[in-house]
Amino acid sequence: MTDEWASSNPGRVPPPPGPEGVPHEVFHEVYRRSRALWVTGRPQPAVLTAIERGWFHEGPLFDAGCGTGENAIAIAQAHPTLEILAMDAVPEAVEAATAAGREAGVEGRIRFGVADLRIEGPAAEYACVLDAGVLHVFSDADRPGYLRVVHDALRPGGAAIFIVFSTEEIRPGGPRRMGREEVLSAIDAAGLRVDSIEESRYETLGHEGGARSWLVRAFRSPIPPDAAEDSRRSPSD
Ligand SMILES: C[S@@+](CC[C@H](N)C(=O)[O-])C[C@H]1O[C@@H](n2cnc3c(N)ncnc32)[C@H](O)[C@@H]1O
Repeated sequence: MTDEWASSNPGRVPPPPGPEGVPHEVFHEVYRRSRALWVTGRPQPAVLTAIERGWFHEGPLFDAGCGTGENAIAIAQAHPTLEILAMDAVPEAVEAATAAGREAGVEGRIRFGVADLRIEGPAAEYACVLDAGVLHVFSDADRPGYLRVVHDALRPGGAAIFIVFSTEEIRPGGPRRMGREEVLSAIDAAGLRVDSIEESRYETLGHEGGARSWLVRAFRSPIPPDAAEDSRRSPSD
């Protein structure tokens, strides 16, 4: 997705990035210049599924890479007593999320903040971390640091929920994609235990029907007995 590629391929959609990931500056530019493709104005359907399944019943919750806040707001509305921290690297996104939270009347229950989650994040007090469309943006070099931040934000027994662009999505453009084994091994290497991975969709303004994705739930050890019970009952792929 370089300027060099765009100038030698006028009018064409750039190929998805490989191990170099999405350059970090792209997020700052996108929020400043235009409407990002992932800002659909509503929560991700996979987040609504996770709400229905009760995956966010226990707080506090950390929304990592919250963007303009639609997911955190939907969770706050569904769980009126849940405390939520929502962070993104881009101040403009966090400002928009804060304004949306105020408009939705949940501003007292979601704290918004700016952080580069490749480097730093909150302390290990969260029962749940939501990553909606974030893990797949990172380069090979940055991915372990980000996953360490996710792991370290969770208290023992806490759950991380990821929605990750899949290699099954073959339409041009968009972010980096991850295969099933790649998702499992990256999360496992961070010390989190995956209890379910299933095909899902990540809605964007550019992928009709949503981009093919993985919906994953993983736990920081020890896995709570009710979750272990759950995963024995539900299909894990
Ligand atoms: C595809 S968007 C998803 C936004 C939101 N989770 C949603 O589903 O609407 C990826 C988000 O990750 C954020 N992001 C990228 N790198 C980050 C980093 N190092 N630290 C924190 N946020 C980051 C971007 O600014 C962007 O808002």
